[in-house]
Amino acid sequence: MSRLVVVSNRVASPTETKGSAGGLAVGVFGALKDSGGVWFGWSGDVVSDSVANQGPKLEQDGAVTFATVGLPKKDYDQYYRGFSNATLWPVFHYRNDLAVYDRDEYAGYRRVNSWLAHRAIKLLQPDDVIWVHDYHLIPFGEALRSEGVTNRMGFFLHIPFPSPQILLNIPPHEELVKSLCCYDVVGFQTPGDQTAFHDYIVRHAHGKASPDGEVEAFGRKLKTGVYRIGIFPDEIAEQATRGEARQDVMDLKQSLEGRKLIMSVDRLDYSKGLVERFKAFEHFLEKSPEWRGNVTLVQIAPPTRSDVDTYQQIRHNLEYEAGRINGRYSGLDYTPIRYMNQRYDRWKLMSLFRESQIGLVTPLRDGMNLVAKEYVAAQNPDDPGVLVLSQFAGAADEMTGALLVNPHDIVGMSEAIGRALSMPLAERRERYEANMVMLRKYDLGVWRDSFLADLRGVKLNKRPASSK
Ligand code: G6P
Repeated sequence: MSRLVVVSNRVASPTETKGSAGGLAVGVFGALKDSGGVWFGWSGDVVSDSVANQGPKLEQDGAVTFATVGLPKKDYDQYYRGFSNATLWPVFHYRNDLAVYDRDEYAGYRRVNSWLAHRAIKLLQPDDVIWVHDYHLIPFGEALRSEGVTNRMGFFLHIPFPSPQILLNIPPHEELVKSLCCYDVVGFQTPGDQTAFHDYIVRHAHGKASPDGEVEAFGRKLKTGVYRIGIFPDEIAEQATRGEARQDVMDLKQSLEGRKLIMSVDRLDYSKGLVERFKAFEHFLEKSPEWRGNVTLVQIAPPTRSDVDTYQQIRHNLEYEAGRINGRYSGLDYTPIRYMNQRYDRWKLMSLFRESQIGLVTPLRDGMNLVAKEYVAAQNPDDPGVLVLSQFAGAADEMTGALLVNPHDIVGMSEAIGRALSMPLAERRERYEANMVMLRKYDLGVWRDSFLADLRGVKLNKRPASSK
């Protein structure tokens, strides 16, 4: 089997892949271990120009090489903080109102992609299969192609692909889509994302797109597909039970004094619908006085991208809302919302999920949302909690046992909280079982293997035969 080269903005460290990393990193690492290969990307460090130009730092773990590079401040600002997270992220999450566009940042984004491609090229072998991840790296494949690389190259978009009317707001939209067409396989999380891409190809790029995923545009042929990211449910269940007896979880249980627990865990991001969620919980307490003092919402929201203005704003808004609602409904021995800007170990989160009666996952827009899936997998099958899930998360298609809500509908979410808190055991079990069937059917291994099978299966006659 040919080697695999994974390219992503963030690269897990060799130690993280042994346990503390998210399931996705573990899944990708599994594929790398099977075929041998390289995981290439940004180290997460901002460094001087001279350090950045020293070449990738290499760490070996068996047949897998971890290759990472630091970014100079200007590159970090333009590529990561700027175009990736202040333009692409908001627009792809349907938040044009929060997006800014700056030509210099876009030029920096392309420049850094070309620079990264140039660094990666030295690590490539003729038969390598190259798998590029996410919105930071859309032009990476095109940059490799312009250096003569003809290897099989796939791209997976972890976030939503917006409908053309939204995408048109980004001035260089055509260049971005053209860059995507340089890959052999482009993968999306849901059929809606794939359809949006096809719509753009047909209506704005004068190309062709067939329902089976064959696309022709900008002089290239490629395949698009839907590959739903999943989790390994048994591993999550194991983490959730392993943590059960640990002190922090016991402490939380004790401090709840028998109150029901609602759990939410998200990066502190405006796409996660946190303010609306807090308001829904407030509305629930307002309309259900019998629940005041008897239910607690634990919101864990580690800060992220905190040097981007819009992220400072959401943090400010959320702190204000938490304070306001707690001021309104706290008692001397009761705080309705426990809001924490901290990172927690995965096993701890999974065991907290298992202790809770509701998983409240209500993003305004989300590519997939693995927290929703982890919540389900962490439950005790004999007495499972209820997943209350936004209809705008990619996971909504699969989690047929969830109570689906519109995250803009504060009253609707408040009603769903009430319904979940009073749901009889038999219905909770039925819903849990329905979700688990889907979690097992579309687990992380299926996602990874089906994408790689399609990429490895790309016909050579569609592409020039040489490799560099
Ligand atoms: C989302 C993106 C990932 C990204 C992660 C964390 O899940 O799809 O590509 O790595 O957020 O964001 P950060 O900016 O901290 O890497």
